[in-house]
Amino acid sequence: MLSFLLISTKVKILNNKVSQLSKSQTNNTIWLSTCHSTNSYAKEWVSKNDFLDGWTVSTYEQTKGRGQIGNSWESEPSQNLTFSTVYKLPGILLSEVFCLNIAVSLGIIDFLKISGFEAEIKWPNDIYINGKKVAGILIEPHIKEAQINNVIVGIGLNVNQRHFNHPNADSLYNISKSHYIIEEMLEKLSLIINDRILKLKQREFDQLKSDYYKNLYLFGKPSAFRSAGRVFMGIIKGIDENGKLVIETETDLCSFSIKEVEFMR
Ligand code: BTN
Repeated sequence: MLSFLLISTKVKILNNKVSQLSKSQTNNTIWLSTCHSTNSYAKEWVSKNDFLDGWTVSTYEQTKGRGQIGNSWESEPSQNLTFSTVYKLPGILLSEVFCLNIAVSLGIIDFLKISGFEAEIKWPNDIYINGKKVAGILIEPHIKEAQINNVIVGIGLNVNQRHFNHPNADSLYNISKSHYIIEEMLEKLSLIINDRILKLKQREFDQLKSDYYKNLYLFGKPSAFRSAGRVFMGIIKGIDENGKLVIETETDLCSFSIKEVEFMR
């Protein structure tokens, strides 16, 4: 447990007392010493409609981190970034939800590239370096009348952690042998993601999509996949309007949702 309380105009480290958060500040980030899941925490803000666009909650220790398709997200205390940002996105349609995945994934890629890492997006929204996963994104939209009114964007970025239970997970430290200050990293990362979110709000979908393809793992390369227990060769051609992965096989052009296809490497 942290025994101190640090308050600046932008960052507040709280012992889970959110009441001290001033709503008049922009670009606010609160740091919690511990939390079950920052996405679940942010859901409280959204359900009460009591937040400003871009509010972020970050935690040093996430005890019940959630991943995509019901997976959990493990992170050693104080080593990594585990945070959620809430955005107000009136006007973005439900059918455009995948563009939000694209914007956030690209924001992380931009940040990692600026920081000297060769990162790629593994569809739908995992971030890979050298074929290993360093970050995951969990997007939970709050839908009203076919529009994404508010959305929670949860990000786990492995920063300083050295050992992982999962053989396919890695961290920035393991790749660069440099230690990072996670609070500083969050400030920079949030600003860069916000630039991409702005492009989304300006409806620059084509640009976002074309940048996504440029950074998409195995895009255009003959690769092995598995679907319904069958292994097949195919080439990723892109994503369709529903965010499904489009793969050209020897005989067909097929679209897959996240549960329907597995990468063989
Ligand atoms: C995945 O790769 O399956 C997505 C992982 C997302 C993890 C982050 S950590 C911060 C936020 N809070 C959560 O409970 N999950 C996301």
